[in-house]
Amino acid sequence: MENNERREQQGSLAFFTVLILIIQVLGLTAVILVAVWMGSYRGGFAWQSDPAHEFNYHPVFMVTGMIFLYSDAILTYRVFRNVKKTYLKAIHGIIQGVVLIFTGVGLKAVFDSHNLHSPPIPNLYSLHSWIGLITVILFGLQWLSGLISFVAPQLSMRARQTYMPHHVFWGLAILCLAAASAVTGMTEKALFTDFYSSFKYSSFGMETYIINFLGVTIVSLVALVVYVVSRPEYKRQPSPEEEHIQLVH
Ligand code: HEM
Repeated sequence: MENNERREQQGSLAFFTVLILIIQVLGLTAVILVAVWMGSYRGGFAWQSDPAHEFNYHPVFMVTGMIFLYSDAILTYRVFRNVKKTYLKAIHGIIQGVVLIFTGVGLKAVFDSHNLHSPPIPNLYSLHSWIGLITVILFGLQWLSGLISFVAPQLSMRARQTYMPHHVFWGLAILCLAAASAVTGMTEKALFTDFYSSFKYSSFGMETYIINFLGVTIVSLVALVVYVVSRPEYKRQPSPEEEHIQLVH
């Protein structure tokens, strides 16, 4: 019986490892596809001297930050199961900090590309920009509340434990919103490009495939992260020392 249980646990952990590897491959693929799309098909990158090409940083930084790095930050507690919780909190918070920096650069690039255009393009008119802004605001609030609840020493263990399920739910909800932002932004960009340049989205050329594979990759990656986080068997078990601290508080 005990042997069977151990075998089942090992099998489930082996499957977990495969899932994590697939997630990493999907994340890297998304970053490469978006960089190739902007770098090779949309004219490459520039900063404020060339606002049209400054825009191209927007998708690259948003996908790398809010999809790939954010997914990895969420998975920290599941992947490093035997590392001390204090270190995990630090890794989790630091990666989210990097996501915030990437998001800042990505937003600066797109706002500049509107404001420095001649004549300027209005800001925040599209559905994509509304969903995107809501996502970024929620991400910022979640980061702040996470920082306060898990780092502030004054908060009781009970208060932290009450907050925890909400933190997990919103973390995943914001990741899903980031995917919705990315796919609406990509569709919008594909159709703008179709309208304003010689590119035909319906031509089934290489750019069409890059855009569509990028979208499928992002959606699959996010679905797998939600799956891994929602499975109780992949949850990190507290060490005996951590359990003792929880009981005392
Ligand atoms: C993943 C998370 C993303 C978020 C949170 C996000 C957020 C935003 C925001 C807030 C704006 C408004 C900027 C302004 O009005 O000046 C914007 C604009 C834009 N974004 Fe994104 N974006 C994301 C990903 C993408 C991706 C992957 C693309 C693909 C090319 C994209 C394409 C665009 C385009 C074309 C605009 C300018 C037109 C408009 O305002 O809708 N975005 N984005």
